[in-house]
Amino acid sequence: MVTIGVICAMDSEFDLIREALSHGEIQTVGRCEFLSAERAGKRVVAATCGVGKVNAAVCAQMLISRFGADYVINSGVAGALSDRLRILDLVAARTVFYHDLEERLLQKYFPHCSRFPADERLASLVEELAAGQGVRCVRGEIVSGEQFVTDSAVKERIARETRADAIEMEGAAVGHACYLSGVPFAVVRCISDGADDSGGMDYDTFVGHAARRCAKITLGLIDRI
Ligand code: ADE
Repeated sequence: MVTIGVICAMDSEFDLIREALSHGEIQTVGRCEFLSAERAGKRVVAATCGVGKVNAAVCAQMLISRFGADYVINSGVAGALSDRLRILDLVAARTVFYHDLEERLLQKYFPHCSRFPADERLASLVEELAAGQGVRCVRGEIVSGEQFVTDSAVKERIARETRADAIEMEGAAVGHACYLSGVPFAVVRCISDGADDSGGMDYDTFVGHAARRCAKITLGLIDRI
């Protein structure tokens, strides 16, 4: 049976997924809890990893090494970097990479990969699911770093340096771990804010709606894989 790993950083991003998998069982590995359940003929192992790249990478690696995940999906909210994204739009990652780690440093040991390519079939499925639910979806570049950005000047600098579409704090670490193990992955994010001076207020207003919207797409993706 195919095993799909799902990672959310926060409880609000995980709530709908937990509800959908509530018939499953909890397994604890170290300090991490994994909810494991069958859905649509697949084994789904899902977890809340906490915010940040290390939490996300460790969780992805546990899903791969301990649970044998054949696919990993990272689902949650993001800030918009590019003008083509509005609040509550969906982003299906084409690639994920870091905005706070110089690409040339990563390239020394892995010359071809400092940007981690998401699985194209999974990204296409996300686009189809979004269209089916009447949600605007952009396939694009997502950057991750150890910073919650709510400052227009910082946003502009990161947008200029990376040319990415959206910013969050875990996707690249999940993609990185999956890349090293050769596991196909998807990063699916819904825009909760513009990562600018009003980003904090927008986030508070929209995070719940954006998180639920993204989780719904992720459940659809699980069913379609
Ligand atoms: N996740 C959601 N919004 C974000 C932002 N503005 N910066 C970093 N991560 C985010």
